[in-house]
Parts: sequence; structure tokens; C-alpha cells
Amino acid sequence: MAIAPTAFSVIPALCMTNIRKEFPGVLALDNVSLTVLPGEVHALLGENGAGKSTLMKILAGAQPKDTGEISLYGKSVQIDSPQKAMSLGISIIYQEFNLVPYLTVGENIYLGREPRAAIPGFVDFKKLYTDAQAVMDKLGVKIDVRAPVHTLSVAQQQMVEIGKATSRQSKIIIMDEPSATLTHHELQSLFTLIRQLRGEGVSIVYISHRLEEVFEVCDRATIMRDGHWIATEEVESLTREEIIRLMVGRELKDAIPKVAAPLGEPALTVKNLCRTGVLDNVSFTVRKGEVLGIAGLVGAGRTETARAIFGADPITSGTIELFGKALRIRSPQEAIRNGIGLVTEDRKQQGLVLGMAVRENTTLANLQSLSTMGFVRHGEEKRVAEKYRTSLSIKTPTVVQNLSGGNQQKVVLAKWLFTDAKVLIFDEPTRGIDVGAKSEIYKLMNELAAQGVAIIMISSELPEVIGMSDRILVMHEGRITGELLREEATQEKIMDLATGGE
Ligand SMILES: Nc1ncnc2c1ncn2[C@@H]1O[C@H](COP(=O)(O)OP(=O)(O)OP(=O)(O)O)[C@@H](O)[C@H]1O
Ligand SMILES: [Mg+2]
Repeated sequence: MAIAPTAFSVIPALCMTNIRKEFPGVLALDNVSLTVLPGEVHALLGENGAGKSTLMKILAGAQPKDTGEISLYGKSVQIDSPQKAMSLGISIIYQEFNLVPYLTVGENIYLGREPRAAIPGFVDFKKLYTDAQAVMDKLGVKIDVRAPVHTLSVAQQQMVEIGKATSRQSKIIIMDEPSATLTHHELQSLFTLIRQLRGEGVSIVYISHRLEEVFEVCDRATIMRDGHWIATEEVESLTREEIIRLMVGRELKDAIPKVAAPLGEPALTVKNLCRTGVLDNVSFTVRKGEVLGIAGLVGAGRTETARAIFGADPITSGTIELFGKALRIRSPQEAIRNGIGLVTEDRKQQGLVLGMAVRENTTLANLQSLSTMGFVRHGEEKRVAEKYRTSLSIKTPTVVQNLSGGNQQKVVLAKWLFTDAKVLIFDEPTRGIDVGAKSEIYKLMNELAAQGVAIIMISSELPEVIGMSDRILVMHEGRITGELLREEATQEKIMDLATGGE
């Protein structure tokens, strides 16, 4: 049951009333309302494309609304720019990051509000970095605040985004899937920080597709579906099943349907892969039909291992064999030519051509198979793209740029599923994907394994690693610290190995 604003004894920190937003061809928000109390952690839930980010972008002044009212602490406000939102005490952590790659961590955190030195016009960098360090320390992450942001991993960048938002004296902080790239340890730091902010009376809007987080840290939840408000409830009064039912409008089983495929010959063998300061003698084999999970904390070297195999980063030493044949992979193009695919965690940087249509993105990596003498057979291209669009229920007719975050991720997947890769490396494949589509992705993975594809799955979601892998490698500081079979793997054992077995 909805709680009418008048039912509150306190003045809400935020009231968004009857917000409407139409994009060409899409009614993204149809009279949506949201009320957030002071010192409340409010979950905003819904499937990919439900309108969560759009609602929050309007609040953050990044997008204009068509109609509707916004009030803060009972006072009606006009939010017509990000600067205005900031001056009203609203901070947002965007789902797609908003950092300046060539500035340092510290400069990004204090961008536009750098501490001034005694000499007019100069920035007090000493103070900037000391303050930035304090912000990151509070988050419990080890990041060099003088490092340029582009040298950081996606997860580290996420922590910088969080640092940037929390370092302002904000009254309302919007977190649009802050946890998507974080591992257990950082997530716990984030939750500690959220509880601390809540204690200080800050209101937080928390968007996540991981429902266990909602139960752990949120007070109330608003559920949206297809641009509509569906319900606002106390989290305590909800069950996981109820939330899913409200989100998708029907019953849905979201158990991970792992189907073990028969294991074939070794497909990819990596021996003593080294990259100075990053990878330390990484060796493993993945067989045809096998799903090899790789777990570990942020910075453990999982993504770096994938990039080394894919030819995206150089290696200092080590060998890579594909079906018993030694390979020297110097570029991603060579990797693709040899049947190795990498589904990246950073769709913005590596995965998609944002200006292109969904169809073109889907078929991009394997256009040869759709071409006759250099001409693309468009009818077939359309058919292939359509097949993946329906099986992953990708919502859109337009260019990828306008897709919701989760739908973009699905296009990245479709793109690689369409190549005939023999070895597929998935790096955080279900990041930002809603519960329904997640099962679809697991099903596709099962199908690929059954076809004999060797799959390496890097994931920070322990239930997913345990649920989908035949075998799990755990990495810590660039090394493999342990290997667990599916039957023996538990979250505790993985965490123990991931922290170096301390
Ligand atoms: N700039 C835009 N132009 C056109 N359509 C857009 C634009 N931004 C969003 N949309 C559309 O509006 C709808 C809502 O998108 P939104 O990003 O708010 O979803 P979401 O709930 O955040 O989903 P996700 O969980 O995948 O992040 C989608 O259909 C999306 O394609
Ligand atoms: Mg979104």
C-alpha cells in the first residue's frame, strides 16, 4: 500500500510528485511519485528500463522533466541544472561514471570546488590530496589519490565516484547501482558509510538489482515497472518473492539453473602468465564445456588476467595455448581471429559503439559470417539481432546510447554470443542486469557450454560464481591462491582465499 505524504509526522526530505518524462517513442515516466524521509535509505527498484535512472537524472538536474513537482523539506524547488541540484544539496553517483579520466583521483573528487591556496588563482594541492585521502580512507579503500583516474579499475573508479558524492555536504545522495562493480569487502565499507550517513540525517536513494542488499541496508522501497509507480513499502514488510512479483508483474523463479555440460579436451591453457606488478605466475586450464569461475577482491588481477589473454595488455612472460597449440596474441583482433572473446565489465569503454543501432552492435564482432563478398546481408543481420533481442528481452528500437544501463549490457552480451568463439571470457557478465534477464544470461551460458565453448567467468557475486561454475579459481594480489570444485565451494572458503588466506 502506498503511503500518502500527509501520513508522515516528519516533513519528507524529498517529494517528487507526478513526474512525467517522454523520450521520442518512449514514455519513460508516467506520473511517478517518490517520497524520501530524512535519514532514510530508500531503495528504488525495477527491471531494466523501468525508469529508475531517468527519475534520478531529473532529480539531479541532468535531464528536464515534462511535468511534475519536486519539493525538498516541504519547499517547492526548480531543478534546471546539475549545478542547481548540487547547490540544493543533492549528489548523484551515476550508473555510468562521470569522472574525468586524465585528472587524478583527488582532482576528480574536488572538481569545481578545489581548495584555494593563499596566492589567488592557485589550488592548494597539498590540502586537496590530504582531504581526498581522508575521503578514501573513510571508504576503507586503498587508492592512490594522486593517480590519474584512467589508470584505475572500474571498481576503483566506482569508489572514487562514491567518494566524490559523499565528500560534499549533501542532504540527499542518489546511488545508481553503486554496488554493481564492488566486491564483498568494498560493499561492506559502503554499507558502513551509508549507515553513518543515515545516522547524520542524510537521505539516500539506493538503486540496485541485488535484492539481498536492499534487505541489508534499505528502510523502504519504491518499486517501478515500465515507467509507472507500482508500490512503496517498508522493506521489513516485503519478501524477496514479493519484490520480484511487483517488479515483473508475475511470478518468477530466479534460481540459477546450472546445467553441467560434459567436459571435453583442454581448450585454453595459460602457463606462468606474468606482468610486472600485476600478474604473478598465473597458470590454469579451461576445458571445452567447462565454466571456470574466477573470484577475488577488486585489484586481485582477475580483469588483468582476462585482458592479458585477450591481447589487450602486454605480458612480461608466460605462454598461452589454444587446443594444445602455442599462440602469441598481440592484440584483441588476433584473439578474436583465434576464437577468443572477452565480454567486458566496462561497456562504455570497451563494449559498445554507442552511436550505432542495437542491431549493428550485435553483429559487429562477426560481420564476416553475414557477408557475401564484402557486402553485409542485411536481412540476415536483422534476423540474428532480432533473435538475441527477444531472447534477452532487450528493450529498444533506437541507438544504444539511449538504452537503459542493463539493456546496454545485454547488447554487449548478444554481440559476443553471436561470434563463434571457442573460448569466451565473461567479466562481470550480469552487472546491472535485472533478475529476470539474469536467468536468461545463465541459460545462454549453459547453452554455450553444452555446445562445447570453454567459458571463463569473472564475477564478484559469490552466489553467481558458486552457482554457475564447474570449478573456481580464487585470486589475490595477482596470484592464484586457491582452486575449489563446485561441490566444495562456499562463500567463506572463497573469501578466505580472496584475502590471501589470512
Ligand atoms: N536519452 C534517452 N533517449 C531516449 N530514450 C531514453 C533515454 N534515456 C532513457 N531512455 C529510455 O527510457 C526508459 C527508461 O530508462 P532508464 O535508464 O531510466 O531505466 P532504468 O530503470 O534505469 O534501467 P536499468 O536497470 O537498466 O538501469 C528506457 O526505455 C530507455 O531506453
Ligand atoms: Mg539505470
